[in-house]
Amino acid sequence: MTKIITITNQKGGVGKTTTTSSLSVVLKRRGYKVLVIDMDPQGNLSFCLGADNVINATIYDVLRGEIRPQFAIQHTATVDVIPSNILLSGIELEFTSAGREYLLKNVINSIKGFYDYILIDTPPALSILTVNALAASTHVIIPMVCDIFSVQGITQLVESIAKVKELVNEDLQIGGVLVNKFNKRILLNKEVKGAAELVFQDLNIPMFKTTIRNSIGVTEAQASQQDITSYDPKNGIVRDYISLITEMREKGM
Ligand SMILES: Nc1ncnc2c1ncn2[C@@H]1O[C@H](COP(=O)(O)OP(=O)(O)OP(=O)(O)O)[C@@H](O)[C@H]1O
Ligand SMILES: [Mg+2]
Repeated sequence: MTKIITITNQKGGVGKTTTTSSLSVVLKRRGYKVLVIDMDPQGNLSFCLGADNVINATIYDVLRGEIRPQFAIQHTATVDVIPSNILLSGIELEFTSAGREYLLKNVINSIKGFYDYILIDTPPALSILTVNALAASTHVIIPMVCDIFSVQGITQLVESIAKVKELVNEDLQIGGVLVNKFNKRILLNKEVKGAAELVFQDLNIPMFKTTIRNSIGVTEAQASQQDITSYDPKNGIVRDYISLITEMREKGM
């Protein structure tokens, strides 16, 4: 069965896009068929995977029913991508009728048979775009960075995900919180991670044992529109993602 995974956190800059792109590429290198969908009007994922979002069709055209999903898929040097651009922010105002939560789910239903994994990047907000992603997904990954406000934000997010699960997608599972940009030599990082483990254990929020290290290589790769496995295949962060995939498989993801 296709695993459809939303990567989300309403907090900005925690690594949603980086997780989506790096994880997708490492999954692809391990032989899986992978599609990523950019549900963020910022279009960062489309940019860093080298997908065009100016001339070609985007997820916006697909959600509006103007383009069939298969015609919006771009086969990039690495994974397949349905890109987005700023027009996607119009969805909130354009679609007001009942059932608007399921626009993306309907799109994915017609193409999921071709893929092992579909990863969905979301904007830093719990908007209708994020709800569409959650409604279409089997699992959620929540990237976090170890700063002081992260833990609180995630407890709120998990409450919202529980509501979405109850109202629009009873099959949705939280795969786990994923600590990103982790530097074990920074005391605050270790302290916040320790505190997060205690709070999340108490609230039954799963957390991945794998952490993703802080690596400048990942930012450099994005700036040059290359994936990390091509830019610097020996970078330790590639091993972190391989370890994440092993853990995901153990969890049935
Ligand atoms: N593991 C990492 N090591 C070093 N830099 C990282 C790492 N993960 C992400 N970054 C950098 O942090 C910045 C924010 O990452 P990213 O864009 O993935 O976050 P985001 O959650 O998608 O942001 P937004 O909320 O704006 O969509 C980027 O410059 C990215 O290169
Ligand atoms: Mg992003």
